[in-house]
Amino acid sequence: MDLTLLKKLSNAYGPPGYEDEAREILKAELEGFADEMRVDSLGNILFTHRGEKGRPLIMLAAHTDEVGFLVRHIEDMGYLRLHSWGVVPNLLPGQRLIFRGKKGDLKGVIGTKPPHIMSEEERKKPVVLDDLFVDIGTCTREEAETRGAYEGMTGVFDVDFLDLGGGYVRGKALDDRAGCYVMAEVFKSLKGSPFSVVAVGTVQEEVGLRGSRTAAYQVDPDYGLAIEGTFAVDMPGMAPHMVPASLRKGPVVTIADASVIAHPKVLKAITEAAEERKIPYQFKKIPSGGTDAGSIHLTKGGVPSGTIAVPCRYIHGPASITTTEDIENTVRLVKAFIERISA
Ligand code: CO
Repeated sequence: MDLTLLKKLSNAYGPPGYEDEAREILKAELEGFADEMRVDSLGNILFTHRGEKGRPLIMLAAHTDEVGFLVRHIEDMGYLRLHSWGVVPNLLPGQRLIFRGKKGDLKGVIGTKPPHIMSEEERKKPVVLDDLFVDIGTCTREEAETRGAYEGMTGVFDVDFLDLGGGYVRGKALDDRAGCYVMAEVFKSLKGSPFSVVAVGTVQEEVGLRGSRTAAYQVDPDYGLAIEGTFAVDMPGMAPHMVPASLRKGPVVTIADASVIAHPKVLKAITEAAEERKIPYQFKKIPSGGTDAGSIHLTKGGVPSGTIAVPCRYIHGPASITTTEDIENTVRLVKAFIERISA
């Protein structure tokens, strides 16, 4: 598979509420394929493919935001204090971050005490977000502000997309830019097909499935499908029943998570489509987390919904790893699902 689009999406800057860059990439990619395209008042982008009369309307949702940070205070010495959207503090010491300042991007590192001067107690202490600070290369608040830093500034992890070779890729924000990629490929393939689909690049998923709620209200679909990048935890020290999903075992199909129980009709269409087309798939074994399906299915009188996801290791951390094989199989499965549920 050509990695150009996935690389662009992964590298795009887009903490919750500031998804413009990811949205513009989808717009450029899909504008020519849509019968109608629009951006709503919250920033969701909606691409419509009009199919034959009488076919059910399917809403696809992939969120354009990523986990990120909000600068809530600048110290006299110029250090930034953070609020986190979706990242636990244990992952943070020493990480590189990038912020969108008033005069352009500012890069920084979360400061750590050299081990040489850490007490025994400090080495064992749990990491607390309020103890952490970002150094953008300053000694005073004035210096930081002169360079464009401000309280209220947002940031994300500073990690470049990389082809690791052998079909493996590494990048930030694969939750859910891998899903955005899948949705884009599926939408492009609908050209000339009889199926009725609205594909939505949603906003603010990471802070509570917000954009998909208002998008689903507008679309008023017959079925909803969230396309995600979900947690593969095939790593050392894991008991088999504690591994929710693994790489190279195909798209991850949700039966239930904390936000939704997949509608049996949708689930059946997904699994039957996979079996008919011989597409590998796996069930998400641990029903935690939530996806846009959580808000779509509660829209108006209720919308039968489900989730199909690309397995990705280390989501909500600085850099995730997934495979092109899993991404391509997720594209195949979403397409097969649309055909089956539309028939
Ligand atoms: Co996600």
